Amino acid sequence: MTKLEKANKYQEENHIDKSCKPVFHITPVTGWMNDPNGFSVYKGKIHLFYQYHPYNTEWGPMHWGHYISDDFIKWEEMPVALAPDESFDYAGCFSGSAIETEEGHMLVYTGVIEKENSDGTKEVIQHQCLAKGDGVHYEKIKDNPVIPAAYLPEGFSRQDFRDPKVWEEDGIYYLVAGSRDGKHDGKAVLFKSEDLRKWEYLSVLADNRGRYGKMWECPDFFALDGKHVLIVSPMDMQADRQEFHNGNQSVVMVGEYNSQDYKFTEEQVVSLDYGTDFYAPQTMLAQDGRRIMVAWMKSWDMDIRPQEQKWNGMMTVPRQLEIKDGLLYQAPVKELKNYYKDQVVYKEKEISGRCTLPGISGRVTSLELELLCGDYKTFTIYFATNEKYSIYFRYIRDEQVIEYDRTYSGMIRDVVCKRTMKIKKTGDKLKLHLIFDKFSVELFVNDGIQTFTSVFYTPLEAAGIEFECDGTAMADIEKYSIELD
Ligand code: FRU
Repeated sequence: MTKLEKANKYQEENHIDKSCKPVFHITPVTGWMNDPNGFSVYKGKIHLFYQYHPYNTEWGPMHWGHYISDDFIKWEEMPVALAPDESFDYAGCFSGSAIETEEGHMLVYTGVIEKENSDGTKEVIQHQCLAKGDGVHYEKIKDNPVIPAAYLPEGFSRQDFRDPKVWEEDGIYYLVAGSRDGKHDGKAVLFKSEDLRKWEYLSVLADNRGRYGKMWECPDFFALDGKHVLIVSPMDMQADRQEFHNGNQSVVMVGEYNSQDYKFTEEQVVSLDYGTDFYAPQTMLAQDGRRIMVAWMKSWDMDIRPQEQKWNGMMTVPRQLEIKDGLLYQAPVKELKNYYKDQVVYKEKEISGRCTLPGISGRVTSLELELLCGDYKTFTIYFATNEKYSIYFRYIRDEQVIEYDRTYSGMIRDVVCKRTMKIKKTGDKLKLHLIFDKFSVELFVNDGIQTFTSVFYTPLEAAGIEFECDGTAMADIEKYSIELD
């Protein structure tokens, strides 16, 4: 049996029942999931692959799992697409992307191998590989790797050269990958090709110059609303004011691209998400021209899932990206609204003290709230509450800060529970859109100019939502439950 057949057999035999999973957020069919990969359209279907270790709930030799969808919300499980089974990728099929061509559905991914040197030391090598498929089955081409690490400029790391994101422009394929130089400083490197097989090194598209962490993982680069956007996920970041936190996180740079010298100049650099669980996002161009992003909804440094749970890792809800006034906005894809049920609306509702509102509760829910006016200093939304548990977002008006706290979410690990986010677009009103799906919350602030994503594994019977105001606030509130069938 090949490694791929073995993985597929294991996946079938260890399939996890949907009832203990989120409703519309993707999880691994079984075992472990990290980065989204190969987010693309092929023959009219939306494809999303993912870094996959089916055999247990820890990271391990990387396979590519696979889902397809017609609307970004309802996903169908597919056979495992790639297993680490060739001389050029036996230590892992790491992250990558996909593109539709006349030949088929092409996957460009990082093959990892480990070489033993003559002195007995081991050396990891990462290089870019190509596979071709029909939307269900994928086969690696014979002449891999298509971009050996030796194509990198002198002094660049051969161990850290990964996560190719491919696109096509005027009949030419381009690819951006993450790497670093000898000082461990992150780089996004650019290549071009006419056939996805023979590649030419073009440039360092963007250079960290010691600013945002070290190695840059999972770069993504695209034009949007008259600007260019570079997304990178640096490792080893250090906290910087209320913009960046410690550890791995995703950073978005909005700027201009010079296609003569293949250089990107950033004008705005901010956190892509301010929460505890958001990493390695990837975007795709939908058939109607929307730029849609999905990210891994977990942190490398925190594992808070209940030990008995047979799956580990989730994806965010797919989000539409837009640029307005030079700034990036995110919104859950509009298709989510097709699954909204049971509308509950309060207009100009006065809230003071701690209260619940009839009809407002739930763990698979969309909750929109606009704070219109009032005489108060703090306004808090508690969720996943019962007598024992509660998590909150608190708006601290004087400081223009939103504070998050999941201390009482049922956690038994000593991990980051509290984090604050400085609100960028301030004004009289504050708009909050919260999307819950059993074990996660995604908060979109002021139409998505900032987002905050976090996971929690609070027992599902804790489904209350409560409000608290230290004065009186007037709010418009709109709530839906979200149901798929
Ligand atoms: C990011 C990452 C990628 C790599 C993959 C391995 O989370 O470290 O750089 O390709 O995960 O699973």
